[in-house]
Amino acid sequence: MQRVLTGIQASGKPHLGNLLGAIEPAIQLSKVANRESFLFIADLHSLTTIKNPAIMQDNTYAVAAAWLASGFDYKQNFIYRQSRLAGFHTELMWYLNCLTPFPMLANATSFKDKSENLADVNAGLFTYPVLQAADILLYQSHLIPVGKDQSQHIEMTREIGGKFNRTFGENFVLPEAVINPDVMTIPGTDGRKMSKSLNNYIDVFLNEKDLMKQIKGIISDSKLLEDPKDPETDVTFKIFSVVASESEVEELKEKYLAGNFGYGHAKKALFEVIWTRFEKQRVLYNQYMNDLPELDKILKEGESRAFLIAQETISKVRMALGYA
Ligand code: ADP
Ligand code: TRP
Repeated sequence: MQRVLTGIQASGKPHLGNLLGAIEPAIQLSKVANRESFLFIADLHSLTTIKNPAIMQDNTYAVAAAWLASGFDYKQNFIYRQSRLAGFHTELMWYLNCLTPFPMLANATSFKDKSENLADVNAGLFTYPVLQAADILLYQSHLIPVGKDQSQHIEMTREIGGKFNRTFGENFVLPEAVINPDVMTIPGTDGRKMSKSLNNYIDVFLNEKDLMKQIKGIISDSKLLEDPKDPETDVTFKIFSVVASESEVEELKEKYLAGNFGYGHAKKALFEVIWTRFEKQRVLYNQYMNDLPELDKILKEGESRAFLIAQETISKVRMALGYA
């Protein structure tokens, strides 16, 4: 049995880019036979940047609801909040801290980036990769589906875990990152990478009116209705092509090239395709968000099952360290 594990920070409501770039591919990976998946909300990591408890909670629920609405099978797998198992995660983090060379953290790209760009440069940002290593090693995970930006953190996890194994005996599985080079970067409404922080995202869980409003905000050039249009450069077309089927994309392309087809028409077509493609997810997402006790129940179940696995590793590690 191989274990797949990934963590998602509680940084906001997942958007179209997150769904197509991260959530759906990780769910596919979890459906392969002989795999067991651990999906957790890294809400301890989010504390490095979010200092508002209400926002932290909202984001946590939104992330959990998006995964469940996208088809994560929580009964066969595990979904949990890192904060609810904080005892184990941070205990292991401390042991790993004592095996992590200071320069490894000081030279980490993500720390350098964050310390240059954030006003609040706290120690949590510095030790962030060690907590991430603890998240992974605690569940003896084999495969870690992540974006390219996380590859250094997985490499650090292997180094720290390897050092522990060499010093105190084989205690950890050393994980491998699964980075899908084919996952394209979904553009946002302004043509840059779709991102929460750029406020250029499309939220597929919105109602009809608000979704249409976001889609209407997609930039376009100033060609007239009758002019032929260039599908290669148009943002509406680019977004359409990652959501629609091949034949729908071909059909829209012909309309662009033929002329007498305006950007307003294209946006209507994009709206229709998003509205239909995410219908089931939208209903489920809103159902979960309107029934937080049910969402809590699912998370608590996941947490009590994950607890047993984390406890097993921690007992073994305490023994290895001479603490038992
Ligand atoms: P955001 O930029 O909106 O804050 P995150 O950095 O939290 O998104 O990313 C969460 C996951 O979603 C990552 O695995 C990342 O690779 C993926 N992702 C984010 N934005 C996009 C995008 N525009 N296209 C494809 N994947 C994306
Ligand atoms: N650092 C990851 C991110 O920002 C989130 C994360 C925390 C994670 N712990 C993890 C990802 C463990 C994979 C495995 O995207």
